[in-house]
Amino acid sequence: MGQRVRKAVLPVAGLGTRFLPATKAMPKEMLTVVDRPLIQYAVEECLAAGIDEFVFVTGRNKHALEDHFDIAYELEAMLESRKKHSELKQTRDAGIKPGNAVFTRQQEPLGLGHAVWCARHWIGREPFAVLLPDELTISSPTCTAQLIAAHDKTGGSVIAVMDVPREQTKSYGIAAVKMVKDGLAEITGLVEKPKPEEAPSTLALIGRYVLLPEVFDHLDKHETGAGGEIQLTDALAKMIGGQPFHALRYSGQRYDCGSRIGFLEANVAVALHRADTAAETRALLGRLLKD
Ligand code: UTP
Repeated sequence: MGQRVRKAVLPVAGLGTRFLPATKAMPKEMLTVVDRPLIQYAVEECLAAGIDEFVFVTGRNKHALEDHFDIAYELEAMLESRKKHSELKQTRDAGIKPGNAVFTRQQEPLGLGHAVWCARHWIGREPFAVLLPDELTISSPTCTAQLIAAHDKTGGSVIAVMDVPREQTKSYGIAAVKMVKDGLAEITGLVEKPKPEEAPSTLALIGRYVLLPEVFDHLDKHETGAGGEIQLTDALAKMIGGQPFHALRYSGQRYDCGSRIGFLEANVAVALHRADTAAETRALLGRLLKD
């Protein structure tokens, strides 16, 4: 039913102030979880969902991001000459086909809504995914694949939500919903960073969206909201009552890598999960906790 989702927008132009000084000269999306940067997890999540065209909305310090998806000629030649075949494979397999990524600038960090709007010419008039790479999601099928499956059924916009403790609603976009079935709910309200006592529910947006291009018509107005920023959530709220618009309750793992403890949790959890690091990580944690 839904038009095929071929493209993803990855907004990576935020200042990352919660991670200073690490983010002084490097975008936070280059922070590594075990051995790969957050941006690579997001790209792999898209590829696993059948998306292979990417719009990166970058700010200052974008070079490391572009280089990560480029050929590292000297490094590859050196690895080849030293017969380090598995390392060479890791270096080469960043996954984006030639010509399938564009890097566009958000000259000023005016908010997530503005960052997504900066991608409008590259998306055109088709449904697209948005992934905030500082939110790491791990599941099979991936969170984005789950959203696309829901979009295929409904033909409309679908956003991933998860329950959070009520005292945390002020850190998220929050959805009011009417349950349909199979974790899918019709969205009846959306509000960015509500106070706990004013939040219409505890269902938080977790940085994964499949959106219809009509969202650009609302973002075009450049209206500011919470924190004086152009909020994506506010533009989405204006889409309620138009085409189908659903929230999908995501049930996999999700780590808020934009916060220090969330990032630490992601590193430990992924290391415990991976076959090549699980045993050593378990032993290490045992040792550290004994002291
Ligand atoms: P955050 O709300 O985490 O903001 O952005 P931030 O600036 O990156 O980090 P802190 O809060 O200062 O530590 C959520 C996502 O939206 C992108 C960020 O890069 C991140 O992926 N973003 C945010 C933009 O691309 N542009 C903006 O103007 C704001």
